[in-house]
Amino acid sequence: MRPLSDIRYAQAAKSETYLNQSSGFYDPQAARKPASKRKWWIIGAILLLLVIAAAVVGGILGSNAAKKNASSASSGSSSAGGSGANGGSGPISGGQGGPGGAGDVGRFAIATDTYFLPIYPTETNQAVYGSPTFIADASTASSDGVPSTFPADPWSPGANPDPTVTRPDRPRLIAPSYKWAALPAMIAEDPYLWGWNETIFGNATFYYNEPLTNYSIDGGYSGSGVLDVARQVKVKVKSWAYAYRMTNDSTWVDRTWRELVNAAGNNTDNFFGEEGNNWNYYHFLDVGEFTAAFAIAYDWLYDVWQPSQREALMWSIIDLGLTWGIEAYTNQTFTNDYGWWNAVNGNWNCVCNGGLTLGALAILGDDPTGIAAQMLNYTVPDAKANCAMAPSTDGTWSETANYWYFGTTAHAEMTSSLITATGSDYGLLTANPSFNDTALFHIYVTGMTSLFNYGDHGPNKYSTTANGMLFYGTQYDTPVYTLFQRDRFDAAEPWSMFWYDGSVAGGWWDGLPLDHYFDNGLDQWASMRSSWTDNNGTYVAMKSGNHTGHQTHGDLDGGDFVLDFMGQRFAGELGSGDYLSTGYFSSEGQDSQRWLYYRKRTEGQNAVVVGLQNQNADAQPTANFGTTGESQDYTTTYTTPAGSTAFFTTDLTSTYFNVTSYQRGVVLLNNRRQVLIQDDIVSTASVQWRMHTNATITYQDGNTTAILTLGGQTCEVKLLNIPTGTGATFQTLEAARYPSDPPLPPGQVDQPNPGVSVLSVTFADGGSYSIQVLFNPQWDDMSASDFVTPPNVPVSQWTVTSHNS
Ligand SMILES: *[C@@H]1O[C@H](CO)[C@@H](O)[C@H](O)[C@H]1NC(C)=O
Ligand SMILES: *[C@@H]1O[C@H](CO)[C@@H](O)[C@H](O)[C@H]1NC(C)=O
Ligand SMILES: *[C@@H]1O[C@H](CO)[C@@H](O)[C@H](O)[C@H]1NC(C)=O
Ligand SMILES: *[C@@H]1O[C@H](CO)[C@@H](O)[C@H](O)[C@H]1NC(C)=O
Ligand SMILES: *[C@@H]1O[C@H](CO)[C@@H](O)[C@H](O)[C@H]1NC(C)=O
Ligand SMILES: *[C@@H]1O[C@H](CO)[C@@H](O)[C@H](O)[C@H]1NC(C)=O
Ligand SMILES: *[C@@H]1O[C@H](CO)[C@@H](O)[C@H](O)[C@H]1NC(C)=O
Ligand SMILES: *[C@@H]1O[C@H](CO)[C@@H](O)[C@H](O)[C@H]1NC(C)=O
Ligand SMILES: *[C@@H]1O[C@H](CO)[C@@H](O)[C@H](O)[C@H]1NC(C)=O
Ligand SMILES: *[C@@H]1O[C@H](CO)[C@@H](O)[C@H](O)[C@H]1NC(C)=O
Ligand SMILES: *[C@@H]1O[C@H](CO)[C@@H](O)[C@H](O)[C@H]1NC(C)=O
Ligand SMILES: *[C@@H]1O[C@H](CO)[C@@H](O)[C@H](O)[C@H]1NC(C)=O
Repeated sequence: MRPLSDIRYAQAAKSETYLNQSSGFYDPQAARKPASKRKWWIIGAILLLLVIAAAVVGGILGSNAAKKNASSASSGSSSAGGSGANGGSGPISGGQGGPGGAGDVGRFAIATDTYFLPIYPTETNQAVYGSPTFIADASTASSDGVPSTFPADPWSPGANPDPTVTRPDRPRLIAPSYKWAALPAMIAEDPYLWGWNETIFGNATFYYNEPLTNYSIDGGYSGSGVLDVARQVKVKVKSWAYAYRMTNDSTWVDRTWRELVNAAGNNTDNFFGEEGNNWNYYHFLDVGEFTAAFAIAYDWLYDVWQPSQREALMWSIIDLGLTWGIEAYTNQTFTNDYGWWNAVNGNWNCVCNGGLTLGALAILGDDPTGIAAQMLNYTVPDAKANCAMAPSTDGTWSETANYWYFGTTAHAEMTSSLITATGSDYGLLTANPSFNDTALFHIYVTGMTSLFNYGDHGPNKYSTTANGMLFYGTQYDTPVYTLFQRDRFDAAEPWSMFWYDGSVAGGWWDGLPLDHYFDNGLDQWASMRSSWTDNNGTYVAMKSGNHTGHQTHGDLDGGDFVLDFMGQRFAGELGSGDYLSTGYFSSEGQDSQRWLYYRKRTEGQNAVVVGLQNQNADAQPTANFGTTGESQDYTTTYTTPAGSTAFFTTDLTSTYFNVTSYQRGVVLLNNRRQVLIQDDIVSTASVQWRMHTNATITYQDGNTTAILTLGGQTCEVKLLNIPTGTGATFQTLEAARYPSDPPLPPGQVDQPNPGVSVLSVTFADGGSYSIQVLFNPQWDDMSASDFVTPPNVPVSQWTVTSHNS
C-alpha cells in the first residue's frame, strides 16, 4: 500500500490500455498515438451525419427506434492476435470498429487526453446530446428484437427477502444467468458494451500470460500487507471468469484454478503466507479482497468446477476468510487488533464487509457449517450502519476523493450481489439519504486534469474503479451518473457489463450546474468551472472543514485549493506520504506523529501558515458560497455568459493558533477567465501564503508578478494590494519542511517532491493583512488589456456582484 499518486494510477492503467495488439504488452508507441481513437471520431462523424439524414427523412431522431437502428457499417473490425487461452492464439481485441449503437453516433468521447479524461468533439445536436434520460420502453424488444437493456429478472424474492435465502440459479453474484443470456446480442448493438468486451478479453489474455501472482508483502503483514496481491488476484479472476462464460472455453477455467490453488496457499512451489492465515487478517482489507476473488470464481464458474474443486474453494473461503470475519465480530481482543473497521465508516468497512458478504453469499446452501449465514447476520447490518454512512450529508466521501473509489467499489459490489442473490439491498442504498449524492461528489471533485486530490491518495487501484457510478445511475434513476462514467478510461471491466443500462441517452453535461457547494462541516468545499466538456478551461476547488472524521487520511489543510487552467494543473497537491512511516496513521489529534510529515503539515498545502505552525486539529470553520448559477447546455461548445461567476469563502479563525480573525476567499473573475484568492487576516504571528506548483517560476515587477509556465502554457500571478511597509514580494521556496519544524520520528524522512516549487509570500510579523493574489492565465484569445484588476472587497462582504466593477 505504498503511496501512489493518481497519475501513477493513470500510468498503471495506461499500461493496460495500450496493450500491443500482438505481444499483449504495454506499447508506449500506441499510447502516444491512439490511432484507433481518431478512427472513432471519423466513425462518429459519419454516423452523426447518417443520423441527421435519418432524422430529416423520418423524424425519428432521439426515439428508441433511432437509437436501436445501429449501423453495421463500422462493426466488426476486431483482429485476432496474441497468444492466449485458445490453444495459443487467444482473442485480443482490435480496439476499434464496433456498432454505432445508442444515438448511432458511436461513443461520445473520441479519445482520452494525457490525463485520461474524455475528449469530446464539437456536438450541437440537441436530440442526441440533450437531457440525460433512460428511455422508458427500452427493456422491451424493439423492431430488430434486441432490447438495449436487460429484461426484468425472471426470479423474484417474494414478500420478505432474506440475506440467507438465495435465487435458485447460478451465478448469484452481480451477474445472473438471464443477463449473460442477453449480453451477446446487446454487445453487438451497443458501442460501449462492444468496446468494453474487447478490452476485457484483451486484459484476460494479458493476465493469462502473466505468472502466478507472487506473495509480495509490503512493509510487513500488518503494514500494507498483501493488499496489492489480493486485488491483482481479484482482477485476474474476474476477467477470466468473464472470458469463460462468454466463450465456454475451459482453458480460462484451468488458468483460474492454477491461480486460486496458489492464492489458497496450496502450491508447494510458492510461499503464500502464514498457514491458516494466508489472506492476512493482520491487514484485514486483504482478507476482504481475497474472499471476494474466491467468491466470484466459485459462483461465476459454479457449473464448470469439478465437485472436488468447488469444495476446495469453499473451504478456502471458510477457513481463510469467513472464520476470521466471525472472529472480527465476536472476539473482542481480535476486534481491537484487527477488526476495528467494523465500527467506523469509510473504505475499510466497505471492503471488509463487502468481501465477506460475497464469500458468504457464494457458498450459502453448500456450506455445511452455517458460518455463511452467520456472517451475513453481521456484515449486512454493520455495512448499513457504517459503510453506507461514509458520505456526509452533502455526498462528500468522509475520507478523500481517491478513497471514494475503494469505498464505492466495495459498496456497489456488496449491494449489487445482495440484490441479485437475495432480492434486496437491505437498506445499503437508502439508509443514508445522501448516499446518492456521493456520485455527484465524484463528478464535481473531478477537475480538468485530475481530481481535487486532497489528503491521502491511497494504494494501487487494480480491481478498483469508478464503475459504481453505472450501478448508482440505475439504482438512483439518475442517468447523468451512467453517462458520465461510460466515457471514462476505467469503464471497461466485467461489472460494467451488468451494471450499465444501455437505454441511457443524452449528454451528461446538458443541464448540469457548473458549480456546486458541499456544505457539510466535515469538509466544506466548492467546485467551480467554466465548462464540463472543454478541459482546457478553468477549474477551481477549495476546501475548509474539520480535520477530524477522515479516518486519518486527511491533512491539516483548511483553505487548500487546486487550480486548472488551459489543460494544466497550476496549483496542485502532493498526495500521500509513506504509509509505512512511523506514526503516519497514529491519530487525528494535534500531537499526532502524522502531522510531522511535510505532505500532511499545513506548510505542505496550498494554504496560509501562521507562526510557522500547523493548523489546529480541532478546527471548526464556517463557509459561504455564491454562484450566478449557470448550467451547461447540450452543446460541447458552451461558453458562459458575461458576468458569470462563483465564489467560495471560509472563516478559518478557528483553524489557526495566534489568529484573531481570518477569512479566505476564492472568486472567478472576468467571466471565469481569471481567479482571485484573497486572505483577510489579523494575526499575532508571522503569515506565509503558500502554493505548490509543478510550473517553472520567474518574476517581474520587482517580484510582485510571478510568471508560471507549465506544459507550454503560461499563467501570470500578481500580488495586489501590497501592504505598505511590508515590502512583501513573491519568493520561490523548496517544497520541504521548515528548519524550525519539530523533528521527524527517528529514522524517518519526508518524500522528496521533485519538480515542485512553492510560490510564497511572507509577512515576518503579525499584523492585519489583506493579501490578494490574482491569477491571469494567458488564454490564446485574450490580450493584456482584456484582463481586469479586481477591487479590494473584504472577503466577508463578497457577493456574486461584488467584483463586477
Ligand atoms: C483493462 O484495461 C483497461 C483499458 O484497456 C484498463 O483501463 C483497465 O484498468 C483494465 N481493467 C482491469 C479491470 O484491470
Ligand atoms: C467479446 O470480445 C471477444 C474478443 O474480441 C470476441 O471474441 C467476442 O466475440 C466478443 N463478444 C461479443 C458478444 O461480441
Ligand atoms: C515472483 O517470485 C519469483 C520467485 O521468488 C521471482 O523470481 C520473481 O521475480 C517474482 N516476480 C515478481 C513480479 O515479483
Ligand atoms: C487448500 O488446502 C486446504 C487444506 O488442505 C483445503 O482445505 C482447501 O480447500 C484448499 N483450497 C484450494 C483452493 O485448493
Ligand atoms: C481472540 O483473539 C486473540 C487475538 O487474535 C487470540 O489471541 C485469542 O486466542 C482469541 N480468543 C479466542 C477465544 O478465540
Ligand atoms: C441472526 O441474528 C438474529 C438476531 O440477532 C438471530 O436471531 C439469528 O439466530 C441469527 N442467525 C444466524 C444464522 O446466526
Ligand atoms: C439522486 O440524486 C439525483 C441528483 O441529485 C436526483 O436527481 C435523483 O432524483 C436522486 N434519486 C433518488 C432516488 O433519490
Ligand atoms: C467538527 O468538529 C467538531 C469538534 O471537533 C464537532 O463537534 C463537529 O460535530 C464536527 N462536525 C462534523 C460535521 O463532523
Ligand atoms: C487543449 O489545448 C491543447 C493545446 O494546449 C490542444 O492540443 C488540445 O487539442 C486542446 N483540447 C481541446 C479539447 O480543445
Ligand atoms: C506535479 O505533477 C505530478 C504528475 O503529474 C502530479 O501528480 C502532482 O500532483 C503535481 N504536483 C503539483 C504540486 O501540482
Ligand atoms: C503562538 O505564537 C507564539 C509566538 O509566535 C508561539 O510561541 C506559539 O507557539 C504559538 N502558539 C501556537 C499554538 O502555535
Ligand atoms: C527577486 O527574486 C530574485 C530571485 O528569486 C532575487 O534574486 C531578487 O533579489 C528579488 N528581488 C526583489 C526586489 O525582491
